[in-house]
Amino acid sequence: MLSALRPNIESILNNKTVEVNERLKQICDLLQGNIPHYDWVGFYFKNGNKEELKLGPYAGLPTDHTIIPFGKGICGQVALSNENFIVPDVKAQDNYIACSINVKAEIVVPLFVNGENIGQIDIDSNTPDPFNKDDEDFLEFVNKQVAKIL
Ligand code: SME
Repeated sequence: MLSALRPNIESILNNKTVEVNERLKQICDLLQGNIPHYDWVGFYFKNGNKEELKLGPYAGLPTDHTIIPFGKGICGQVALSNENFIVPDVKAQDNYIACSINVKAEIVVPLFVNGENIGQIDIDSNTPDPFNKDDEDFLEFVNKQVAKIL
Protein backbone atom coordinates (compact mmCIF):
# COMPACT_ATOMS: atom_id res chain seq x y z
CA MET A 1 0.00 0.00 0.00
CA LEU A 2 2.79 2.42 0.89
CA SER A 3 4.66 1.61 -2.33
CA ALA A 4 1.64 2.65 -4.37
CA LEU A 5 2.37 6.26 -3.38
CA ARG A 6 5.91 6.24 -4.78
CA PRO A 7 4.96 7.59 -8.25
CA ASN A 8 2.93 10.40 -6.63
CA ILE A 9 5.95 11.37 -4.53
CA GLU A 10 8.18 11.52 -7.58
CA SER A 11 5.72 13.60 -9.57
CA ILE A 12 5.24 16.10 -6.70
CA LEU A 13 8.99 16.49 -6.22
CA ASN A 14 9.73 16.78 -9.93
CA ASN A 15 7.31 19.68 -10.38
CA LYS A 16 9.79 22.52 -10.69
CA THR A 17 7.05 25.11 -11.15
CA VAL A 18 6.32 24.81 -7.40
CA GLU A 19 8.63 26.14 -4.63
CA VAL A 20 10.65 23.46 -2.82
CA ASN A 21 8.94 24.06 0.54
CA GLU A 22 5.53 23.87 -1.10
CA ARG A 23 6.51 20.55 -2.71
CA LEU A 24 7.54 19.28 0.75
CA LYS A 25 4.20 20.44 2.13
CA GLN A 26 2.44 18.51 -0.66
CA ILE A 27 4.43 15.39 0.33
CA CYS A 28 3.29 15.82 3.96
CA ASP A 29 -0.33 16.25 2.85
CA LEU A 30 -0.10 13.21 0.55
CA LEU A 31 1.23 10.96 3.31
CA GLN A 32 -1.01 12.26 6.08
CA GLY A 33 -4.11 12.15 3.86
CA ASN A 34 -3.57 8.67 2.39
CA ILE A 35 -1.93 6.56 5.08
CA PRO A 36 -4.37 5.89 7.93
CA HIS A 37 -1.74 5.45 10.64
CA TYR A 38 0.12 8.69 9.70
CA ASP A 39 -1.67 11.33 11.81
CA TRP A 40 1.06 13.98 11.78
CA VAL A 41 3.77 14.20 9.14
CA GLY A 42 6.54 16.78 9.16
CA PHE A 43 10.09 17.62 8.17
CA TYR A 44 12.66 19.02 10.59
CA PHE A 45 15.93 20.48 9.30
CA LYS A 46 19.21 21.43 10.97
CA ASN A 47 18.92 25.12 11.84
CA GLY A 48 21.91 26.71 10.12
CA ASN A 49 25.06 26.11 12.15
CA LYS A 50 23.15 25.59 15.39
CA GLU A 51 22.96 22.22 17.14
CA GLU A 52 19.18 22.21 16.83
CA LEU A 53 16.37 21.21 14.50
CA LYS A 54 13.83 23.63 13.08
CA LEU A 55 10.37 22.58 11.94
CA GLY A 56 9.80 22.74 8.19
CA PRO A 57 6.65 21.86 6.23
CA TYR A 58 4.18 19.59 8.01
CA ALA A 59 0.61 18.25 7.87
CA GLY A 60 -1.54 17.78 10.96
CA LEU A 61 -2.11 19.82 14.08
CA PRO A 62 0.26 22.72 14.79
CA THR A 63 3.01 21.89 17.30
CA ASP A 64 4.75 24.09 19.87
CA HIS A 65 7.98 22.23 19.18
CA THR A 66 9.29 24.26 16.27
CA ILE A 67 12.87 24.17 17.62
CA ILE A 68 14.33 20.95 19.08
CA PRO A 69 17.91 20.88 20.46
CA PHE A 70 20.09 17.99 19.27
CA GLY A 71 19.78 15.14 21.77
CA LYS A 72 16.31 16.12 23.00
CA GLY A 73 13.29 13.97 22.20
CA ILE A 74 13.14 11.32 19.51
CA CYS A 75 13.94 13.87 16.81
CA GLY A 76 16.96 15.28 18.63
CA GLN A 77 18.31 11.78 19.21
CA VAL A 78 18.06 10.93 15.50
CA ALA A 79 19.94 14.14 14.67
CA LEU A 80 22.90 12.61 16.55
CA SER A 81 22.50 8.87 15.86
CA ASN A 82 21.90 9.07 12.08
CA GLU A 83 19.66 6.01 12.52
CA ASN A 84 15.96 5.39 11.99
CA PHE A 85 14.05 5.41 15.27
CA ILE A 86 10.76 3.54 15.68
CA VAL A 87 8.87 4.16 18.93
CA PRO A 88 6.03 1.62 19.30
CA ASP A 89 4.82 3.21 22.56
CA VAL A 90 5.75 6.81 23.33
CA LYS A 91 4.83 6.34 27.01
CA ALA A 92 7.74 3.92 27.38
CA GLN A 93 10.29 6.58 26.28
CA ASP A 94 12.09 8.78 28.82
CA ASN A 95 13.58 11.15 26.25
CA TYR A 96 10.41 12.03 24.36
CA ILE A 97 8.76 15.38 23.61
CA ALA A 98 4.96 15.10 23.56
CA CYS A 99 3.22 17.12 20.85
CA SER A 100 -0.31 15.87 21.47
CA ILE A 101 -1.88 13.64 24.09
CA ASN A 102 -3.41 11.54 21.30
CA VAL A 103 -0.06 10.35 19.94
CA LYS A 104 0.74 6.70 20.71
CA ALA A 105 3.72 5.97 18.46
CA GLU A 106 6.34 7.72 16.34
CA ILE A 107 8.87 7.04 13.59
CA VAL A 108 11.74 9.34 12.64
CA VAL A 109 13.95 8.69 9.59
CA PRO A 110 17.03 10.84 8.96
CA LEU A 111 17.49 12.68 5.67
CA PHE A 112 20.96 12.67 4.13
CA VAL A 113 22.37 15.00 1.48
CA ASN A 114 25.82 13.96 0.25
CA GLY A 115 26.12 11.66 3.26
CA GLU A 116 25.36 14.42 5.78
CA ASN A 117 22.38 14.17 8.14
CA ILE A 118 20.64 17.48 7.39
CA GLY A 119 17.19 16.74 8.77
CA GLN A 120 14.51 14.12 9.07
CA ILE A 121 10.95 13.11 8.40
CA ASP A 122 8.86 12.63 11.55
CA ILE A 123 5.57 10.73 11.70
CA ASP A 124 3.26 10.61 14.72
CA SER A 125 0.51 8.00 14.97
CA ASN A 126 -2.57 7.87 17.16
CA THR A 127 -2.55 4.07 16.64
CA PRO A 128 -0.42 1.99 19.04
CA ASP A 129 2.60 0.16 17.54
CA PRO A 130 1.73 0.72 13.84
CA PHE A 131 5.22 1.09 12.28
CA ASN A 132 7.39 -1.62 10.73
CA LYS A 133 10.08 -2.21 8.12
CA ASP A 134 7.68 -1.22 5.32
CA ASP A 135 7.42 2.27 6.83
CA GLU A 136 11.20 2.49 7.18
CA ASP A 137 11.74 1.44 3.54
CA PHE A 138 9.06 3.81 2.32
CA LEU A 139 10.27 6.82 4.34
CA GLU A 140 13.88 6.17 3.31
CA PHE A 141 12.64 6.27 -0.29
CA VAL A 142 10.80 9.56 0.40
CA ASN A 143 13.89 11.13 1.95
CA LYS A 144 16.15 9.98 -0.91
CA GLN A 145 13.81 11.61 -3.41
CA VAL A 146 13.59 14.79 -1.31
CA ALA A 147 17.39 14.92 -1.01
CA LYS A 148 17.63 15.21 -4.81
CA ILE A 149 15.82 18.56 -4.83
CA LEU A 150 17.54 20.14 -1.80
N1 SME B 1 7.81 13.76 19.51
C1 SME B 1 8.96 14.42 18.95
C2 SME B 1 8.77 15.91 18.90
C3 SME B 1 8.19 16.39 17.64
S1 SME B 1 6.51 16.17 17.54
O1 SME B 1 6.27 14.70 17.42
C4 SME B 1 5.86 16.92 16.22
C5 SME B 1 10.20 14.09 19.73
O2 SME B 1 10.12 13.46 20.78
O3 SME B 1 11.28 14.49 19.31
